[in-house]
Amino acid sequence: MGSYRADLARVYREALGFHAVNCAPGILALLAPLRGGTVLELGCGTGLLTRHLVDAGYRVIATDASEDMLEHARAHVPEADVRPLRLPDDPLPRADAVVSIGNVLNYLTDADAVVAALEAASRAVRPGGILAVDLCDLAWGEAHRNASAKARLGDGWAMITRFAVPRADRFLFDFTIFTECGDFWRRDDERHELVLVDAAEVAARTGLAIGRAFGTETLPAGMVALTNPA
Ligand SMILES: C[S@@+](CC[C@H](N)C(=O)[O-])C[C@H]1O[C@@H](n2cnc3c(N)ncnc32)[C@H](O)[C@@H]1O
Repeated sequence: MGSYRADLARVYREALGFHAVNCAPGILALLAPLRGGTVLELGCGTGLLTRHLVDAGYRVIATDASEDMLEHARAHVPEADVRPLRLPDDPLPRADAVVSIGNVLNYLTDADAVVAALEAASRAVRPGGILAVDLCDLAWGEAHRNASAKARLGDGWAMITRFAVPRADRFLFDFTIFTECGDFWRRDDERHELVLVDAAEVAARTGLAIGRAFGTETLPAGMVALTNPA
């Protein structure tokens, strides 16, 4: 669980776009057989992948649980149909493809909720359509157990991120964001708790295929790509 309030949303937009840039070519190659159509994006965040999808000619319904993230998506990708949508319970509109990157499903409470969200996403895909979602496996915790804190500095903001693995199926991000406000700096703290799942088991329960990547990109250690079988 995590909020993505305004200050983190801004930093995300300005400095954390690398995953979307990394995944976009593989996702677009996967979608290519559709030759256009509607893409439902789950957890679109600030619209970093949305931009690539729209530029490639897709009609995109870009959804997220955080209104502050959606505000950026609306501003940066005005061509997209940007809407609030919280997994796993909100109804999903039908689409030719459903995509989700940036460990969105790991924000759910447990493996059952992840499976429920994937089943809902699969039902939302029209016959012959495509599902492409990334997911952090239990191996993510092992790979990041000793990760050092990270400091990032931007124009008018600074962010420190700390990581922890309190148990094998949980991963914590602790974000501290300082934002310049005239003569002083505002501080905001967000703790994000990810559920780590046995991705092979989730794939077996949902009938999805599990892979190391969407295309030729290298996903971070412990993250997998789930797609519907052709
Ligand atoms: C790491 S960000 C990835 C954003 C975007 N996909 C990207 O790659 O730039 C995770 C996103 O998942 C969203 N999210 C978290 N829990 C969610 C939920 N239950 N339903 C929908 N979106 C959720 C957050 O608001 C956030 O925008």
